[in-house]
Amino acid sequence: MPLLIKNGEIVTASERYVADIWCAGETITQIGRDLPLPPGATVVDATGHYVFPGFIDPHVHLHLPFMGTLAKDNYTTGSRAALLGGTTTLIEMICPACGDDALAAYELWADQAAGRSACDYTFHMGVTRFDAGTPAQLREIVGRGVASFKIFLAYQGAFGINDPELYHTLKLARELGVIVTAHCENATLVAERQAELLAAGRTGPGAHHESRPPLVEAAGVHHLMTFAELTGAAAYIVHLSCREALAEAVAARLRGVRVGVETLIQHLLLDQTYAERPDFEGAKYVMSPPLRDASHQAALWQGLASGLIHTVATDHAPFDFQTQKTMGRDNFTRIPNGIPSLQERVHLLYTHGVATGRLDLHTFVKVAGTQAARTFGLFPRKGTIQPGADADLVVFDPRAKGVISAATHAMNVDYSAFEGWPVTGLSRWVAVRGELAVAAGRFVGTPGRGRFLAREPGWF
Ligand code: URP
Ligand code: ZN
Ligand code: ZN
Repeated sequence: MPLLIKNGEIVTASERYVADIWCAGETITQIGRDLPLPPGATVVDATGHYVFPGFIDPHVHLHLPFMGTLAKDNYTTGSRAALLGGTTTLIEMICPACGDDALAAYELWADQAAGRSACDYTFHMGVTRFDAGTPAQLREIVGRGVASFKIFLAYQGAFGINDPELYHTLKLARELGVIVTAHCENATLVAERQAELLAAGRTGPGAHHESRPPLVEAAGVHHLMTFAELTGAAAYIVHLSCREALAEAVAARLRGVRVGVETLIQHLLLDQTYAERPDFEGAKYVMSPPLRDASHQAALWQGLASGLIHTVATDHAPFDFQTQKTMGRDNFTRIPNGIPSLQERVHLLYTHGVATGRLDLHTFVKVAGTQAARTFGLFPRKGTIQPGADADLVVFDPRAKGVISAATHAMNVDYSAFEGWPVTGLSRWVAVRGELAVAAGRFVGTPGRGRFLAREPGWF
């Protein structure tokens, strides 16, 4: 059914004006004042509301076999939660174990999404092994529209790759024109420090951040930057959490390395004291890189405001507290790593970024969506509001208030890391390609309508 959004204040990464948006089908047909009301159209009165381009989360895990368990959301629950939070496109990490076949993994992940997702999606292809057969498989996967890779410089024995594999992955990426997203931590330092802490009887979740201090992450970034510089590959550092790692990325960019930087809503708002909470509650806050000393948060906000950090993602990785986080009750290295936040990212970023004056509205739109569209070859189909773009639109009430709680969230996980946190500003109507998926704050979307977004390599 055609959609008319009337009288909203349209805000993109670069423009701000009041107008109507007419979507005859899946794309934006016309933008203007006082557009006529065609018969049969769905009409949303956006007076007093912002209208943002649908937001993009560039780092999500839904199907994730990891640390001896499986993340809790799937595409049905995860896409619903994303949409309720204003995210209309997500990019999921395909994470095969290092013994798995890359093409088979691609097909497994594609099957998980097809017929289930209510929002649009695409993938980063995890390269967790590089042997003689890998290049042909990766060429095939890129040919199917997955034009970005994911590598891990951590999680030895699971997803992590060694230096020859890193070198050859980056060389292939450079040749194919795909960007390489990377988890940057020095895996040797992590393993040694974990062993030392356990030997000293430090088994609880509060030891996790001590096993992976800022220098461990900075060493990972430095390492990746050296390899990217020598191979000429474009890189994107996921979940950057601290000043030291940012300094390495900025230094590399000054040397001419093409590198994007992502931080997470968790790292912007939570600090390591959450992981130090007593009675094992800290396990809810165990993720990698870990939550940091609160002093790093100012640098991350400043990095976003000044353009040194480009995107805010979630790294959504939901593991139940009661049955999954407890796998590490006697050993913090066995706590499944991850903090869910797919539903809350945009509302928390608005509340703590825009409403506090840390970010202007355009920067908010950019870091929560537009830049991810640009970095990953989705722009201008996604990430902006203009005729011809997909009609992914978020009608946002800046005065609406809510309180985050596991009792009411749509994510399939038994806790919220932001339990009881108030938010100001909520996504009230959300459209995906011209069809409402959220109306007056309630999910009305269609599981299975979400589309895989094939991307061409070589856009950067
Ligand atoms: O702790 C995290 N980040 N869990 C998800 C896997 C990853 O490293 O991205
Ligand atoms: Zn990671
Ligand atoms: Zn991740």
